[in-house]
Amino acid sequence: MNSPFDLTGKTILITGASSGLGQQAAISSSMQGATLIITGRDKTRLDETLKRLKGDNHKAIIADLCYEEQINNLVDQLPKLNGVVYSVGISDLTPAQFLNSEIINKNYKINFEASVLLSTRILRKKRLLKGSSIVFISSISTVYPFAGGAMYISTKAALEAYSRVLALELAPKKIRSNCLRPAFVKTHMLDETAENYSRAVVDKIEEQQLLGLGEPEDVANAIVFFLSDASKWITATNLILGGG
Ligand SMILES: NC(=O)c1ccc[n+]([C@@H]2O[C@H](COP(=O)([O-])OP(=O)(O)OC[C@H]3O[C@@H](n4cnc5c(N)ncnc54)[C@H](OP(=O)(O)O)[C@@H]3O)[C@@H](O)[C@H]2O)c1
Repeated sequence: MNSPFDLTGKTILITGASSGLGQQAAISSSMQGATLIITGRDKTRLDETLKRLKGDNHKAIIADLCYEEQINNLVDQLPKLNGVVYSVGISDLTPAQFLNSEIINKNYKINFEASVLLSTRILRKKRLLKGSSIVFISSISTVYPFAGGAMYISTKAALEAYSRVLALELAPKKIRSNCLRPAFVKTHMLDETAENYSRAVVDKIEEQQLLGLGEPEDVANAIVFFLSDASKWITATNLILGGG
């Protein structure tokens, strides 16, 4: 009998797959038998992800999700899907007193609007099969905020709200929508924090996290679970990873 965690026969779209959590989600999903459509902006790094996938028939599609025509072009190339992982995102550490409309718009464009417009297009083009699973990468910071995170955290809170409405609207088709809320994980995003601030800031973050810094695999394993039939009775949730 197949394990309920097996992804054999499932076709999954992953955004942000050229780096970090999206890249590892693609690799781990392929190891469980999924066929992947991966997308990102950087061709070299996206091709690197493609090379690291287990099995055949995977496909890489370059798209900047800030542009609606590129979203439409991506969706036009999609087969029928069993799941989507939205891992596209940027981090922003601007203290509240320095926020301006440019910073607000940039954060919402990439961290919220890009995923919502892609999701809209996927739904309108009926790309999601009955029983599909949608996974958004939010952040533990919606529950345990950090100073300077006003925009980053607001966009993630908006995504969580959006995901719960999707769960409601799509439940009749047995399509599920869930969010993961990882604490800090060792990816490019964390390196950027160390560069922009200091190693001491990262050390402090590590100290504050109950289970220390995460590895990309720790998040990818939870993504595999949410994509698999093992989670077929779970929707509209936000799962914290890494501790409070
Ligand atoms: N790392 C953490 O500690 C952590 C913790 C909690 C939540 N998260 C969330 O997890 C997600 C992934 O984070 P990560 O650490 O993997 O970050 P990352 O390594 O910086 O990867 C970000 C990904 O987003 C893509 N991207 C950015 N702007 C884009 C755009 N306009 N169009 C298309 N793709 C775009 C990048 O593609 P290109 O490089 O090809 O441009 C890249 O693949 C983010 O949503 C982040 O907020 C991360």
